[in-house]
Amino acid sequence: MTNQATPQEKKLFTPGPLCVSPTVKQALCRDMGSRDTEFIEIIKNLRDTLVNIAGLPRDEFTTVIMQGSGTYTVESVLLSTSNREQKVLIIANGAYGQRMKTICERAQIPFDILSFPETQQVNVEDVLKFLESPQSAGLFGSVAVVHCETTTGIVNPIENLGEQLKKKFPTMTYIVDAMSSFAGMETNYSQVDFLVSSANKCLQGIPGFGFVICRIAALEKCKGLAKSLALDIYEQWKGLEQNGQFRFTPPTHAILGLRQACKELEAEGGVAGRARRYKQNSEVIKAGMAQRGFKQLIKEHDGHIITSYFCPAHENFDFQKFYDGLSDLGQLIYPGKVTSADGFRVGHIGHLNAEDMEHLLKCIDQVLQDMDIPCPLK
Ligand SMILES: Cc1ncc(COP(=O)(O)O)c(C=O)c1O
Repeated sequence: MTNQATPQEKKLFTPGPLCVSPTVKQALCRDMGSRDTEFIEIIKNLRDTLVNIAGLPRDEFTTVIMQGSGTYTVESVLLSTSNREQKVLIIANGAYGQRMKTICERAQIPFDILSFPETQQVNVEDVLKFLESPQSAGLFGSVAVVHCETTTGIVNPIENLGEQLKKKFPTMTYIVDAMSSFAGMETNYSQVDFLVSSANKCLQGIPGFGFVICRIAALEKCKGLAKSLALDIYEQWKGLEQNGQFRFTPPTHAILGLRQACKELEAEGGVAGRARRYKQNSEVIKAGMAQRGFKQLIKEHDGHIITSYFCPAHENFDFQKFYDGLSDLGQLIYPGKVTSADGFRVGHIGHLNAEDMEHLLKCIDQVLQDMDIPCPLK
């Protein structure tokens, strides 16, 4: 890996799409027929590999691949798992939890939302208290939560929530949006019924599709529930199982990219190896930003996927100028997404290493100097 971004190709310190390796890019350079036996075999192996990466047993779990971006996959799960007689309880502490609410509103899926502040982790006790209250009795069929809320980078306690939930409500369906954390954080997903992620986050494939790792027993109950043709995960699963093919045009090149990316994940030492590199990336950035006087928005449970910073208070600071200055140096950071503060985000995931992080910090120094802002900040 080199930290020299070319003028055409910038380093992406973003929540996605992310930098991918040259070998993943090379893997795309091949046309494949969607109904060819070789491609059908690749899909089958990829579906199995994703269950293995999740650390789940293949006789209980299966992967359904969904064309489109991550949101399409989240939407497909909410549409396909709601029986419309019981509500979905959405637990939100950021924009992606709120997006699930929008999906339910649009699709007229009955739901309630339990919102926590964007700068705080979801509180498991509060969720259980809410579900155990007499007003909630029999009302909810599923609970949906985001693992790493990419809005801020905060990591929600999905393992503990799942354990408590299944202990107290064994029939409750547990849906987790692990879009930005899957394969980048070591996690026990054994309580999760529908686990959503996409090809272009910590797996380091290219954008084009998402996937759901489904508990087969829960998926079997989804027949006929989706009020959508394309976003029906049950029908998509049946299609993949019956002849190994997608019902509609598959993202053939992106699938070849993810196949290569999964090989590279394994070579890196699996999820543990990848999480180690991302953690190191985040440590370099967090220490370097603190030295320069930048303040983090999240003080606890901030994980190692993406970090949010307050914009400096200096009168010369203008986010767009800061962003453009870094972009001119081939470094792309990301605007903030919280509603309560002006800030920006720096992602630590993708095909990036500690050297790239050090280089970004040097570029930040240069841009601050160009903006006539003394560093360290006051
Ligand atoms: C946690 C989470 N959920 C959902 C999404 C939506 O994914 P997409 O932008 O691919 O539709 C994202 C995107 O970053 C995300 O981080």
